[in-house]
Amino acid sequence: MQIISTVAAMQRLARKWRRAGTQVGLVPTMGYLHDGHISLVRAARQHVGSAGRVVLSIYVNPTQFGPKEDLSKYPRDLKRDLSMCRAGGVDAVFVPGDGEMYSHLAAAPTRPDAFSTYVVEEKLCRSMEGASRPVHFRGVTTVVAKLLNLALPDLAVFGQKDYQQAAIIKRMVRDLNFPVRIIVAPTGRESDGLAMSSRNKYLDPEQRAQATILFHALQAVTLAVRRRPQSPAALQKDLRKFIQAAPLAKLDYVAFFDPETLEPVARVKPGTHMALAVYFGKTRLIDNARL
Ligand code: PAJ
Repeated sequence: MQIISTVAAMQRLARKWRRAGTQVGLVPTMGYLHDGHISLVRAARQHVGSAGRVVLSIYVNPTQFGPKEDLSKYPRDLKRDLSMCRAGGVDAVFVPGDGEMYSHLAAAPTRPDAFSTYVVEEKLCRSMEGASRPVHFRGVTTVVAKLLNLALPDLAVFGQKDYQQAAIIKRMVRDLNFPVRIIVAPTGRESDGLAMSSRNKYLDPEQRAQATILFHALQAVTLAVRRRPQSPAALQKDLRKFIQAAPLAKLDYVAFFDPETLEPVARVKPGTHMALAVYFGKTRLIDNARL
């Protein structure tokens, strides 16, 4: 497994693969890997085949964190990540060093030659995660655009866990004609249903036990709308009550929307998409499903 820490080396390798006609799959991550991330590696491998190459990037991207968010506290464990990548059959890990991705941004954002170009999706980013985190998706689209330019992959794999993120990236790739196929892979879950997340480690044992409320809420609403389509308002009211079963949980938002446009629906029925965000103390968890 190759470990690449500079932009120049990543570009060299990507061009070499491209010249050789090698299929390349990219899995962008912020590290602190779990089995959910490795399931994306498996999906990439399935698509590129044994002769292809799978690149996993590890980069805690500063531009997608708001000023009050957990950038400095974001969990990191490169040694463990690298051994998971080796075991998962990754061919190359791109783990850019400080200053590689945004030359001068961190050091001196006011310098005249500082980083100043962003990629902004303007419609799908307004609701849900975008409403709660105003600069978040601008940072995500910018860094993903950079990673696609660096690794030149034939396909890139994202998790359904971050449904809105995947939808925005698909839109960016379509709108800006990136020559890459975006694959969305299913959410990896713990045995009790909790969606795997690097942030789960912040939960204390009591919060962890109650965190299954997100998955249970998705299941309960799925059953309810199978019996009878309902208005979002009625379901939201029921859901607030349902979540009280987990006294440590505080609902941030719940949304019922069209899976393609992310527009809110007037009537929630099978096929509608549901997403929710819940706080446990300072830890914010998200989950979603097609009902
Ligand atoms: P990160 O949170 O590390 O997630 C990396 C990828 O793993 C994303 O595509 C995410 O949707 C996926 N993922 C996370 N948890 C998952 C789970 N339980 N099952 C399946 N896939 C899961 O998302 C990001 O990083 C960043 O925003 C990034 C796209 C790398 C840009 O910086």
